[in-house]
Amino acid sequence: MKGILSPSLMCADVMNLERELTVLDELGVEYIHLDFMDNHFVPNITLNTDLIKATKSVLKHMKRDIHLLAFQPQQYFDAMEIGEGDIVSVHYEACPDDLAQVLADIRKRGAKAFIAISPDTKPEVLNGYLDKIDGVVVMTVYPGFAGRPIVPGSMEKLAAVRKLLDNSGYDLLMEVDGHVSWELCAQMRECGADMFVAGSSSLYQKGLDMKEAVARMSELVK
Ligand code: DX5
Ligand code: ZN
Repeated sequence: MKGILSPSLMCADVMNLERELTVLDELGVEYIHLDFMDNHFVPNITLNTDLIKATKSVLKHMKRDIHLLAFQPQQYFDAMEIGEGDIVSVHYEACPDDLAQVLADIRKRGAKAFIAISPDTKPEVLNGYLDKIDGVVVMTVYPGFAGRPIVPGSMEKLAAVRKLLDNSGYDLLMEVDGHVSWELCAQMRECGADMFVAGSSSLYQKGLDMKEAVARMSELVK
């Protein structure tokens, strides 16, 4: 399976989001990465629920890859109109008591359930959930803001998570989120990443032609 791009909308031109979505949709990009932050799990607020819901009326082919950096993430699912075709990622660290129930709620809505793990969280925490998920988001930066540096040891962590997923007996995707740069994305692919959140260190670098940038990144992670 070829590498899947998921450009991060919070890194796009926030004054022209509909145009940014349409450009990617027309280029045949498979997913758009939509970060929702509650200013509590992380000290930032980005795309809100109304905007995430409104993307459904704009997207023709592209699917939503929704990343909730929020406590009690299930409280936002109705407002975002979570449904068929969506990937919904919730943080292990943000659901200490009810992660299995939150994952089941995502699947009940017809969406794919992913667990996101922050840099300081060990891959082994996933062991209790492998039958309840469709994939994992490995954060290779400390979450909350674009433009952060990659955390040392991230490549080894990607390889360790890949091994854990492959040994599970389930067909599980691994998404990498954070500093997916031109220089590092091919190495992330070699470590076993399937999906790539392309943000400020690649597709949304200033002055790039998006068509050329998408073609270049697709080649690097094929
Ligand atoms: C950060 C978000 C990412 C962010 C990545 O917490 O989860 O999706 O957009 O941006 P870069 O590519 O700049 O690290
Ligand atoms: Zn994200």
